[in-house]
Amino acid sequence: MFDELRDLYQEVILDHGKNPRNFRRPEDATCLAHGNNPVCGDTLVIYLTLDSDERIQDAAFQGQGCAISVASASMMTDILKGKTATEAKRLFEGFHNMCTRDDFDISQLSDCDEDAIDRLVMLSGVKEFPIRVKCATLAWHTMQAAVSGDEETSTE
Ligand code: FES
Repeated sequence: MFDELRDLYQEVILDHGKNPRNFRRPEDATCLAHGNNPVCGDTLVIYLTLDSDERIQDAAFQGQGCAISVASASMMTDILKGKTATEAKRLFEGFHNMCTRDDFDISQLSDCDEDAIDRLVMLSGVKEFPIRVKCATLAWHTMQAAVSGDEETSTE
C-alpha cells in the first residue's frame, strides 16, 4: 500500500476512534446485542432500528473497546443506515473475508455498495495483525447477532 494512502487510512481510523459517530442508545431500537471479545474482555452493545421491510433506519453503539474496535463500530453504524439486513450480512461476510483470506479479491464484492467497501478497505489493514481482526470485526459480529435475535455473542 502507498504510504500516503496508509497515512490517510490511519487518520480516518484515528478520527473515528477518538470521535465515534453514533455513540448513543436510541430510544426506538428494535433489536440489540452485546458482543464480547474474550481475548481482552472488551464489550460493545449494538442497537439497530429496523423498519417493517427489515431496512436499518438507525444504528448506534455503546461500550468499551480499543481504538480499532470503536473506530470499526463507528464506521459500521454509519455504513449500515439505509441498508437492508441482508445487505448488512453480505457486507459483514465481505469485510470478514477481506480481513482474513489470502485469496480475497475485491471484485467478489462488486454487488455491494461501493462507498461502504471503500470504507471497509481502510480497516482491512488489520489482516497483517491477526489478533486485531477480532477488534475490527467485534461490532460486525454483534450487529449480526442483533439482526438474528441473539442478544449475546463473542468473537470466538
Ligand atoms: Fe479489545 Fe481490541 S483490544 S477489542
